[in-house]
Amino acid sequence: MWYSIGGRSRTSVQRHRAVYRRWAAPRIRSGELVAYIAEIDGQPAGSGCVWFQPAQPRPGMAEIRTPYILSMYTAPEFRGLGVATKIVRRLVAFCRVRRYARVTLHASPQGRAVYRRLGFERTWEMRRSLRDPPAAAGRKS
Ligand SMILES: CC(C)(COP(=O)(O)OP(=O)(O)OC[C@H]1O[C@@H](n2cnc3c(N)ncnc32)[C@H](O)[C@@H]1OP(=O)(O)O)[C@@H](O)C(=O)NCCC(=O)NCCS
Repeated sequence: MWYSIGGRSRTSVQRHRAVYRRWAAPRIRSGELVAYIAEIDGQPAGSGCVWFQPAQPRPGMAEIRTPYILSMYTAPEFRGLGVATKIVRRLVAFCRVRRYARVTLHASPQGRAVYRRLGFERTWEMRRSLRDPPAAAGRKS
């Protein structure tokens, strides 16, 4: 997935693989992370996960977990066949039957149209890098 999205060096992606595996394995075992793999003619064609990440309760939402879809990937030879669409539908249904109020994700440019078609909307989440000075901070004396 990271190679396809781009912007990361080969070395950092290779290092990340073991880190992700260490992170994912116990969560899959405990059910905190659920992964789907779609097969076409017995070949793994695509995959996607939902992580029930810790969250704070809010008014009207007593849950302390928020489903977050991640690691969506379709092998290049199977793209455009609806594999990702099917996986996202399954993941959303999985969350719905568990009565979660919402599901979130961070969309790559390639994934945006897929999610938009399935009813996902842009939100007002913001972030600030703590590594570099913020661009055009607009500080006034
Ligand atoms: C995004 C991705 C998972 C979609 O998988 P898929 O199985 O081909 O998706 P579907 O067949 O269900 O839907 C295809 C849609 O993906 C979008 N898409 C695919 N490649 C795209 C690209 N290069 N640029 C923009 N949109 C793209 C299009 O909207 C396309 O719909 P269309 O065929 O009607 O134009 C796949 O392209 C992929 O693995 N990309 C690299 C990793 C990635 O970006 N993952 C998502 C992380 S949020």
